[in-house]
Amino acid sequence: MLQETPIPLGRREKILRRFGYKGMAYLGRVVLGKGEAAALGRPVLLDLSESHVVLVFGKRGYGKSYTLGVILEEFDRLPFSVRSRLAVVNIDTAGVFWTMKFPNEEDEELLASWNLKPRAVENIEVYVPKKVMSYYLSHDLPVDGAFVLNPAELSVDEWLWLLGTDIDSEVGVKLVEVLEKLDPPFGIEEMIEGVEGSDVASRSLRARLKVVKSWELFEEDAPSIKDYAKGGKITNIDVSTFRGSSRLQEVVVALLGRKLFEERMLAKKGEDIALVEHKPTSFEMPIVWMVIDEAHLFAPKRGESLSRDILRIWAKVGRQPGLALILATQQPSDLDDALITQADVFISHRLTSYLDLKALEKIKPSYVPTGLSEEISKMGHRKGLAIVLDDVTERLLLVQIRPRMSLHGGSSASALRTSLL
Ligand SMILES: Nc1ncnc2c1ncn2[C@@H]1O[C@H](COP(=O)(O)OP(=O)(O)OP(=O)(O)O)[C@@H](O)[C@H]1O
Ligand SMILES: [Mg+2]
Repeated sequence: MLQETPIPLGRREKILRRFGYKGMAYLGRVVLGKGEAAALGRPVLLDLSESHVVLVFGKRGYGKSYTLGVILEEFDRLPFSVRSRLAVVNIDTAGVFWTMKFPNEEDEELLASWNLKPRAVENIEVYVPKKVMSYYLSHDLPVDGAFVLNPAELSVDEWLWLLGTDIDSEVGVKLVEVLEKLDPPFGIEEMIEGVEGSDVASRSLRARLKVVKSWELFEEDAPSIKDYAKGGKITNIDVSTFRGSSRLQEVVVALLGRKLFEERMLAKKGEDIALVEHKPTSFEMPIVWMVIDEAHLFAPKRGESLSRDILRIWAKVGRQPGLALILATQQPSDLDDALITQADVFISHRLTSYLDLKALEKIKPSYVPTGLSEEISKMGHRKGLAIVLDDVTERLLLVQIRPRMSLHGGSSASALRTSLL
């Protein structure tokens, strides 16, 4: 148990008085002093019970994905009464988070110095694209299912985006005709069959749909998006193999974002009605945390993007329906400004690029006279060190993120290492 009084981040005074530290994540310890004389002080906790927008920054190899893993481990350790009201959807852009199903025995000594022990994450379900499923199974890697989507769940805009066309083009018009004709549920095959004519636009649409079919991502009887956000569980969606097609990765996030937003809005209405009518609230649809590594790919500062809008909506109005974001990026200068300005918790590992530090100059809260970028440029080199800024409690701290209890899958490839597990 934690002996010293923890420093709570992201938790309002009123909630702290009523619930204490319940529903909070153990992030690490505050660093006291500088250089050789630096020592670890009080534990630092992060609120997971309410909606927040948490940004995790840092240059390559300084601990972003590791820190995301720490937060995911903490979800797993929450008491059931809290955990079951939350669902985590982790967009795994590098396909590395499945290793969390194993305890981190490599760092047993380090963990012991933090009074922690190796521990596998129990409540995580790993979904991988159908195409790589056989690879996972033949290597005995733990996988819980294939990640498939229902084509009928995509909006017209999402289809247009995915096929790289627009509503003003002939291919776009043909697509809308096909979608109008079909009654859900339907598969890609039916979409292809639904394209009539042998003109250039029809042939082009058919060809594009065949490419989509070859991805094996869409199935008529795929679970609905809602089923990927399960109370008490971390759903890990490996989108790493879609990397070649950033459109495809974006469609996944846009669709999850849009559908989960709609579901949570409806659920919140039901919860509020129950409250007004003094009836027991049914918490069928959990509060959702979406965790996205390499977030600049999904909400770029410049250029076209399908998922940026819905992520902005989550950040702007997600507090009320209960939608929370944790976004990590190497390049804050490439991340959408609206997300940076809406964030309430910043965890920044080392950054050195002038542009990235400059991007953080926008974050200049009155309680940090020097600004965040100034603090980051002064911090040390150690991995896992982070400047943490919390708008809720108006704190700025230098924190050493705690070691991982489960295996971190994002370590650098090395010719010296012989095994992962
Ligand atoms: N809190 C920590 N405690 C101990 N070691 C850490 C910590 N954070 C990071 N490390 C070490 O640093 C390495 C790199 O961290 P990580 O994989 O999170 O980098 P990253 O910022 O995600 O990099 P990239 O941008 O290349 O994905 C880890 O494999 C681990 O060895
Ligand atoms: Mg990483």
